[in-house]
Amino acid sequence: MDFRTQSTAFDALAALPSDALILVIAGEALPATFDAGLSVLINDAVKLGDFELKAGKTLTLQRPQGVKAPRLVLAAAGKPSLKAARAALLHGFAQLKGRGVAHAAVAFVGFDAMTTGLAEQFALAAGESVYVYRHTKPSAPAASKLVKVTLLLDKADAGAAKAAKVGVALGQAIAAGIELARECGNLPGNYATPTYLGEQAKALGLSHGLKVEVMDKKAVEKLGMGSFLSVAQGSDEPLRFIVARYDGAAKTQAPVVLVGKGITFDSGGISLKPGADMDEMKFDMGGAASVLGALRAVAEIKPKLNLVVIIAACENMPSGRALKPGDVVTSMSGQTIEILNTDAEGRLVLCDALTYAERFKPSVVVDVATLTGACVIALGGVRSGMYANDDDVAAALAAAGEASLDLCWRMPLDDEYEEGLKSNFADVANVGSRAGGSITAAKFLQRFAGKFRWGHLDIAGTAWKSGAAKGGTGRPVGLLTHFVLSQVR
Ligand code: BES
Ligand code: MN
Ligand code: ZN
Repeated sequence: MDFRTQSTAFDALAALPSDALILVIAGEALPATFDAGLSVLINDAVKLGDFELKAGKTLTLQRPQGVKAPRLVLAAAGKPSLKAARAALLHGFAQLKGRGVAHAAVAFVGFDAMTTGLAEQFALAAGESVYVYRHTKPSAPAASKLVKVTLLLDKADAGAAKAAKVGVALGQAIAAGIELARECGNLPGNYATPTYLGEQAKALGLSHGLKVEVMDKKAVEKLGMGSFLSVAQGSDEPLRFIVARYDGAAKTQAPVVLVGKGITFDSGGISLKPGADMDEMKFDMGGAASVLGALRAVAEIKPKLNLVVIIAACENMPSGRALKPGDVVTSMSGQTIEILNTDAEGRLVLCDALTYAERFKPSVVVDVATLTGACVIALGGVRSGMYANDDDVAAALAAAGEASLDLCWRMPLDDEYEEGLKSNFADVANVGSRAGGSITAAKFLQRFAGKFRWGHLDIAGTAWKSGAAKGGTGRPVGLLTHFVLSQVR
């Protein structure tokens, strides 16, 4: 998609050419300085009872009198907040679904001033609105014909051009990352295999000039990743350990490291999951997809820092060779782990990836994982669970979530939560009791993150949607990209 910005007089918006003019309107009345002809049209629609200046309301008018664009889309935001703007933008772009609109122009009306955040949300909403999964459903109808979007900037707003330039570039990059993450997530498990994730990383390396290393079982054995290997051993699908680097600063500068859980299908293993909704466990590589997406976004923005992305990818399957409850495995860190439940496999692949991250002498490590059903119970699909062994890391992750509207919520790491992980036969057990399940999982990981500042995102509730809208969300690519950018020194 072609993203543009255009400075114009907001008292003469009606004269601008496009296939659809989308007005995202905040407040309960139009500003006095706003285009007079459009004001008459909108106020008339309100009088007729066809439209209200209330959050969630939309109206599309065809060939309205005095308007150059053949379609006028009104999307009310209610409050002039970033969150309200995002919702209205999505509503506005949704109005173009199935229509012949190739070029849409968007104006924010009733907002204080253009901000990077608003411009970013404009690009994100446009990108999101055109995504359709078709890889194994080529007959899926196109969402729209949209190929070009223009953000209209008020000439009277002095700082608009600069804010819009930065914001649109950021939103465009994040949209590209989200698209990659959604597509990887949506691909069925027999397509998005560990091998496929390795190929995607390689392809990203080629297109964006990144160093990418894809390791196989032999290399992982050499590294001593007994925990990761134990999860992979039940499947015929070969594992992959992926390391991709974006070098934007001097070699001496400690990198940010992102680690993704890449379970391309989680059957539970011998601790087999119930059958209902098991198909959704193809999304269990959502962490891997999101760190790849963030890498893509960062590589497009080209900030002055170093970023390393690590993905531990394999399937979790039952078989005669599979890991069994009661087995004890030795992690790369040397800590032994008693397997009490083979369905708690995410932490088993992540712990070795965290130990591997030590070699980069990182400034900070953040792992991302669809780790626990308990996190879905705790926070639902609105916020990801966030943990950190450092208050600055926690604050930076929370701020990145707010700025991108890809929200998270900090959870506790009190030592008492680790009690349940005690084992008579190993240094640690891989599960505790059911209570506080997202927290005990994080406590397990924390044992492998003692040598660096560390954050952990449990995205089990946010990485995909169930039901009629089943599909990957691309979260938390926005949060991660903002977080990485916040680490530029
Ligand atoms: N991938 C799942 C977590 C999950 C479950 C995500 C449901 C989204 C929806 C993870 O590997 C898992 O199975 N976790 C177990 C841990 C338990 C055995 C301690 C869980 O949450 O049930
Ligand atoms: Mn599992
Ligand atoms: Zn899992």
